[in-house]
Amino acid sequence: MTHTSTPAAKHEAQARKRRAAEAALRHIEPGIVLGVGTGSTVTFLIEALARRPGLIRAAVSSSNASTEALRAAGISVVDLNDIDDLPLYIDGADEATRSHCLIKGGGGALTREKIIAAAAKRFVCIIDDSKLVETLGAFPLPIEVIPMARNLVARALEAQQGRAVWRTGFVSDNGNHILDVHGLSIQDPPALERRLGQITGVVTVGLFAARPADVLLVGTATGTDSL
Ligand code: 5RP
Repeated sequence: MTHTSTPAAKHEAQARKRRAAEAALRHIEPGIVLGVGTGSTVTFLIEALARRPGLIRAAVSSSNASTEALRAAGISVVDLNDIDDLPLYIDGADEATRSHCLIKGGGGALTREKIIAAAAKRFVCIIDDSKLVETLGAFPLPIEVIPMARNLVARALEAQQGRAVWRTGFVSDNGNHILDVHGLSIQDPPALERRLGQITGVVTVGLFAARPADVLLVGTATGTDSL
């Protein structure tokens, strides 16, 4: 797949994201509490929810930005600790394989996203088709770290052939830093997720393989494929 660069290509990528987001509405049982992710594809989902008042009872949000957008759309946001059941989570991704493993965290919300994915019975991932890949890793892998451990973790990552770049100026909603790991070709996503998660100081690895998506909705030039 080509990466978008011209204004026309960017506009088309947005249209594909919108198609995937709107297709996700069909997965929502009316009246549920919905887990809502973060990012530009999810923005289309929130816009679509705003046009369907009352479709969901409330949302659990994965970021301060999504909480603000949900509230602006008239949707109440509840704490994950206050609900017993989360039937569905809808979120985007930075890369996805046909086996539903994902790289997430381009927007820096990976920790809360992983928590909601773990809590949800079903995870529907919405992407445009440029994000569907054979092998994860061309998109730098985001890793959220405790700030004082940033260099310690970066050195440990470099020992594993990854070039860790500090996302300078960015602080996560949890007060942590993000390292983006370049140069990976991820052959065994669950194993790498496990291994990197064991490095002291790592809060969350942006690989979603132990808990992959259940469904991938892929926006294309003409519609949406469900994988
Ligand atoms: C945020 C994420 C997003 O889902 C991911 O970055 C995709 O974003 P977008 O829909 O803007 O392309 O993981 O932490």
